[in-house]
Amino acid sequence: MQQQVFTKSMARNIFLGGAGFFLIIYLVLTYDTWQQIPARDHAAAMTPAVIEGKYLVDTNDCMGCHTINGEGAYYAPELDNVYKRRGPAFIKAWIPAMPTGVPGRRQMPHFKFTQVQIGDIVAYLQWLSNVDTNHWPPNIQG
Ligand code: HEC
Repeated sequence: MQQQVFTKSMARNIFLGGAGFFLIIYLVLTYDTWQQIPARDHAAAMTPAVIEGKYLVDTNDCMGCHTINGEGAYYAPELDNVYKRRGPAFIKAWIPAMPTGVPGRRQMPHFKFTQVQIGDIVAYLQWLSNVDTNHWPPNIQG
């Protein structure tokens, strides 16, 4: 029986063939992701109020305690889905009512927002709750 030899050129062909094959899969999946992003993030639905609300959430470091899509600090509940969990009336009443001062309960600081600014934050949280994140984070309160 003839001895089987694994030559250098065979190794090179397997390497180049494999690398090329997976590069093509990678490029196809990247293209597919970019095709889906506009429908998923629905950035076109960002009104001036949503943009202002996002600005307020970013500049007041809400993510220093909260998570958004699982990113941020795990001290306070997830904000990505808070609009759907609690609704606009709850959030509008909640923010100016902080801190609760209840002993043993984690506290949220008092922010001096105007009614318009709170409305903008709620508009942003509503927009955020409609971003299609494939049900991320898996735990509803983050
Ligand atoms: C210093 C930490 C801290 C910061 C900063 C903070 N929060 Fe909070 N937040 C909390 C804590 C703690 C709770 C939960 C308190 C409780 O349940 O009594 C909370 C709760 C909330 C809730 C209700 C969540 C729920 O699931 O019921 C909303 C809405 C909220 N925060 C919005 C905001 C927004 C908007 C900002 C930024 C402007 C912000 N928070 C900044 C600590 C913080």
